[in-house]
Amino acid sequence: MTEQLAERVCLVTGAAQGIGTEIARTLASRGCVVVLVDLLEPAEAIEKIRQDISGARVEGRAVDVRDAVGVKNTVDWVVATFGRIDVMVNNAGTCARVGLGEMTEELWQRDIDTNLKGTFLFIQHAVHPHMAAQGFGSIVNISSISGIMGGPFSSGEEDSRSGPAYAASKGGVIALTKWIAKEVGHLGITCNSVAPGPIETPMTSSVAYDFGNQPIKRMGTPADVAEAVAYLASPASSFVTGQVLKVCGGSAIG
Ligand SMILES: NC(=O)c1ccc[n+]([C@@H]2O[C@H](COP(=O)([O-])OP(=O)(O)OC[C@H]3O[C@@H](n4cnc5c(N)ncnc54)[C@H](O)[C@@H]3O)[C@@H](O)[C@H]2O)c1
Repeated sequence: MTEQLAERVCLVTGAAQGIGTEIARTLASRGCVVVLVDLLEPAEAIEKIRQDISGARVEGRAVDVRDAVGVKNTVDWVVATFGRIDVMVNNAGTCARVGLGEMTEELWQRDIDTNLKGTFLFIQHAVHPHMAAQGFGSIVNISSISGIMGGPFSSGEEDSRSGPAYAASKGGVIALTKWIAKEVGHLGITCNSVAPGPIETPMTSSVAYDFGNQPIKRMGTPADVAEAVAYLASPASSFVTGQVLKVCGGSAIG
C-alpha cells in the first residue's frame, strides 16, 4: 500500500484548464507524480505547473474520455511509465446550458458521454487490472450540486442554467460513485465524489450567479475543489468511501 500522498501516481482528466489544472497542481505540489489528460493538448498547463512548482513531476497527453480504446491505452501507458496508478481523478466535463425545448440529441449525448461514460471508462480500466492487482487505489469523481438538486432554480427566463443532460449525468456520477465504492472496497480501493457549487472557471465565465441563498457569498475557486480532492486522494481518507463531499459555499446543505 502506498502510505503517503507524496508517493502516489495520479491521473487527472480534463486537466488542460480550470478545476482540473488546479487539482493537478495541488497534487504535484504535495510531491505526487501527476498525469494530465484532456481533449485539448495539456502542454501549456504542464509547462505552467513546472514553472510554478520546482521539481514538479507532471506529464500529459491529449485523450478523449469518451474513447474506450484511448482510455485503456492511457491507463496502461501510465502504469508502464510510472509503475502503477494510485489515484484516478475523473474531472473532465461539459455542460450544455440549454433548456428542455432547445436540448438536442447531440448535446444530450455529448454531456452524458463525457461526464458519465468517460468516468465509467477510466474507473473500469484503472481498476481492472491495475488497482485490483495492486490492492490499492483512490478514485475521486467530480460531480456537481446540479446532480443532487437538479440544477439551480429556474426563473423561466432562460439564460445560463445548466441543462438537463448535465444534471442527469452528474446525478449518474454520484450513483456510479456509490456503486463502485461497494464493488471495490474489498480490494483496498476507495471511491468518492466531490460535488462543487459555482466555481470560477472557463465553464462558468458567462454565468451571473445570485448568491442570495448561499451562506458563503462568493464564487468558489478551483483551489477550494482541489483541496477536497487532495484529502480524498490521501491516506487521511482511507476509511472514507462512497461519499459525496459538497464544496459549494453551503448552497446545497442537507
Ligand atoms: N465550474 C463550476 O462551477 C463547476 C461546478 C460543478 C461541477 N463542475 C465540474 O468540474 C469539472 C471541471 O469543470 P471546469 O469548471 O474546470 O470546466 P472547464 O470547462 O474549465 O474544464 C473542463 C475540461 O474538460 C475537458 N474536456 C471536455 N470534454 C472532454 C473529453 N471528451 N475528453 C477529455 N477532456 C474533456 C475540457 O477540454 C476542459 O479542459 C467538470 O466535470 C464540471 O462539470 C464545475
